[in-house]
Amino acid sequence: MNSRYRQAVSNILGRRSIRRFDERPVEKEKVSLILECAFAAPSAGNARPTHVVIVDDRPVLNALAEVLPYGKMLSKAPLAFIVCADTSGSDIARLYWEEDCAAAMQNILLAAYALELGGVWLGVHHAPERVHAVRNLIKIPDNIEVLGITAIGYPAEKKDPHEGIPEGKIHVNQW
Ligand SMILES: Cc1cc2nc3c(=O)[nH]c(=O)nc-3n(C[C@H](O)[C@H](O)[C@H](O)COP(=O)(O)O)c2cc1C
Repeated sequence: MNSRYRQAVSNILGRRSIRRFDERPVEKEKVSLILECAFAAPSAGNARPTHVVIVDDRPVLNALAEVLPYGKMLSKAPLAFIVCADTSGSDIARLYWEEDCAAAMQNILLAAYALELGGVWLGVHHAPERVHAVRNLIKIPDNIEVLGITAIGYPAEKKDPHEGIPEGKIHVNQW
């Protein structure tokens, strides 16, 4: 196996949800690299509806932690990315924005891990009250969809990598 393969696979298998962060801020260069990776994600019809709100202001991070029942770690995270979509550009963007944004979210988490950061995906889209609260706090216009948030920072916890293929979940040619 070549080293590109080894690095890519170990990055995918090693990524875990990190919910504890130390005090260190995330360097601007790393923020830019993560964003570049977010926008490199595949997009149906190349419609590219994804927008990202960077949140690095402590009072705003704390306010997000307050309104998200499973996002309390934001009060300790130095950084968050809110992944949104402007679907006004095309029908295909309207149809596929969730998949497009999910691909961007995963790229954010993988890029963060490759840069020795940790992160966790916080679901927003499927809870209307969370969408409403995030929209209000961040002043996201009504015509912009909100998929979710990634909390990012230097990890203060370690987790074992994923391994193996779960039994009974692979089907060959027919279910
Ligand atoms: C759509 C989605 C929503 C999630 N929402 C939350 C959340 O609100 N809070 C949280 O702590 N983790 C959340 N997670 C992270 C999952 O709990 C985590 O991925 C899962 O437990 C597997 O752990 P791993 O990421 O370390 O493999 C979410 C993950 C996904 C994909």
